[in-house]
Order: sequence, then structure tokens, then C-alpha cells
Amino acid sequence: MSRPVRVGLLGLGTVGGAVAKAMGERAKRLEASAGHPLELAGACVRDATKPRGVDARLVTDAFEILDDESIQIVVEVIGGHRPALDLHLAAFERGKHVVTANKEVVAKEWRVLHEAARSAKRELRFEAAVAAAVPVVAAARALGAVRPRILSGLVNGTTTYICSRIEAGAGFDEALREAQAKGYAEADPSADVDGWDAAYKLSILVSLLEGRWFRPEQVSRTSLRSLTVDAVREAASRDRRIRYLAVADFGERATKARVGPEEVSSSSLEGQASGPTNVVRIETDLAGTLTFMGPGAGGDATASAILGDVIQIARGLR
Ligand SMILES: NC(=O)c1ccc[n+]([C@@H]2O[C@H](COP(=O)([O-])OP(=O)(O)OC[C@H]3O[C@@H](n4cnc5c(N)ncnc54)[C@H](OP(=O)(O)O)[C@@H]3O)[C@@H](O)[C@H]2O)c1
Repeated sequence: MSRPVRVGLLGLGTVGGAVAKAMGERAKRLEASAGHPLELAGACVRDATKPRGVDARLVTDAFEILDDESIQIVVEVIGGHRPALDLHLAAFERGKHVVTANKEVVAKEWRVLHEAARSAKRELRFEAAVAAAVPVVAAARALGAVRPRILSGLVNGTTTYICSRIEAGAGFDEALREAQAKGYAEADPSADVDGWDAAYKLSILVSLLEGRWFRPEQVSRTSLRSLTVDAVREAASRDRRIRYLAVADFGERATKARVGPEEVSSSSLEGQASGPTNVVRIETDLAGTLTFMGPGAGGDATASAILGDVIQIARGLR
């Protein structure tokens, strides 16, 4: 039998909990895909006394995971810039592969993280950081031969939900509260409604398609707070809808990227979306227009992408 691959989780919240649960419930499927049994070696949390309902060794010091020589893959699902950055770097220094759903640290620290992975000869994988279950990171990597022309779509479920609820007559604050109650919203709603979350994701996709770092500050952001109920109603009277679009225009000289509320046709995939469904369209020269759509948030959908990355790494291990 092949040797188990041991995985350490940093974070056991919505996403980490779903990863732990899936590892417990579908061990046979994971082993068949990875070519090794996958073992959950432990999980780092802030509060070890919180009830979790998952069977994992809990620690509150991340270095108990990072210094464990039996662990080959670290999954960081804490989120945010720090301490995530330091934990990724410490993992590479200790010869571990890193898988993450954390778009903020990947977008902000693209160069530092890729260089650390390269010098450690280890992998940094982040499929879950953009559009959760929808494999757009893999797609962008696979499109190395094409010239992208336009990338556009919906990459933030909270703003889609808010736009669709305003269409149905809700006020902005009421719609935001509902999105938080449904678990779509990030802990800090500014990350969603002021466009940071979408900007991080767009920065990652453009960086992959261009083969060089496109910084999140290069994405121009218009807050959803600028959207008025009147604008939504006026658009509806012309059979149009307003959605929080992420757009990159790969011009001849420079790439321009923006996120903000824009009009779309009511019958388009974007116009029809009302919650965490993400849509990403990539117009290219060689490959025509490719469209990706599916669940862009939620614990299980994100765990699917994370475990896909873990499997890819495990397949390369002896
Ligand atoms: N939720 C989604 O649908 C989704 C989708 C795609 C990507 N993501 C990304 O996935 C990441 C995790 O999101 P989430 O929704 O799972 O967040 P979450 O529910 O808030 O979970 C965060 C986890 O990290 C732990 N934690 C926080 N600070 C820590 C620290 N300093 N040291 C050790 N542990 C710490 C928390 O511990 P306690 O449990 O003890 O508080 C918790 O277990 C984020 O980068 C997010 O953007 C989320």
C-alpha cells in the first residue's frame, strides 16, 4: 500500500470544517484520486474549546502543525493578510507544500509567495481562492498559449445577492444583512461591497493569464454603496439588470481592470444569477470565448477545490 500523505489545516471555520468533514467522509475516493491515503494530521484554531463536530487533533499554535515533520501539505484557511503570509513562508521554509483559499494573501503577496515556493521547490496552489468550486484558476493556467482579450463576470456572491434583492424591492442595508445571515458575506462586509474581494480575485486571474503579477491596487474599484434603488428600477424598465462586474480588458498596450456595478441584459447568465453563483467569461484569440459558471462560495464548494489541489500535489509524491 502507498504511504499516507499527511495534511495539516490552519483554520477550521466554514471552509476548514468542510475540508475536514470531506476528508473523513470520502477517504476512499480521495485515496483513489490521489494515489495515497490522505490523513488529517491536525488543525490549528484560535479557540480550541469551541464545539466543532469534526474529528481532528486541535492546536492553537500554528507551529505545532508547521514543525510536524510528518506533514507534507499545509492547507491555510484562516484568511486575511497576516498572519497568513508568515505561515505560508514558514511552511515553505520547512519544506511543505501550501494549498489555500485565501485570495487576499495570494493577490497581495503574489511575488513573495511564488518566489518562496520556487526556492523551496514546493507547490503553492490556490484554486479555491477564485470562484470556489469553479476551476477557473486551472483554466487560466491552461490558457498559456492564447492572447486573452476580455475577461468579465461575477466573482462575488454577496454583491450579486444584494443587487438581486434590491431588484425585488429590498433596501441596501436590509439586503446586506440578509447576505450576512445566509453566510455569503465576508466577515468584514467592506471586502465585498467596496470591491476588495472581487479585486483580489481579478488580480489573481489577470496575473495567471498574463504570466506576471497584476497587483490588486491596479484594479479600479467602484463601491456597490454607490448603487441607488432608482438606478436599479430604471435599468429594469429597459429590461436590464445591475450586477457587480469584474472586467479586465487586455488592450494592445496595457491591461485595464475594474470592478463595480454595471448594466447587463436580464437574460444573460450574469443577469439571471441571484446568489453565490459565479460566472467567468474569457474571450481569447485562439480559443474563442470560454464561459465558466457554478458555485463560487460555501464550505463544501470551496472544500472541493482545496481537495482537488491537495490531490494534485499528492499525485506527485512518492
Ligand atoms: N466561506 C466561503 O464560502 C469561502 C469561499 C472561498 C474562499 N474562502 C476563503 O477561505 C478562507 C477561510 O474562510 P472561512 O469562511 O472558512 O473563515 P472562518 O469561518 O472565519 O474560519 C477561519 C478559521 O481560522 C481560524 N483562525 C483565525 N485566526 C487565526 C489565527 N490567528 N491562528 C489560528 N487560527 C485562526 C478560526 O479559528 P476559530 O474557529 O477558533 O475562530 C477559524 O477556524 C478565507 O481566506 C476566505 O476568503 C471562503
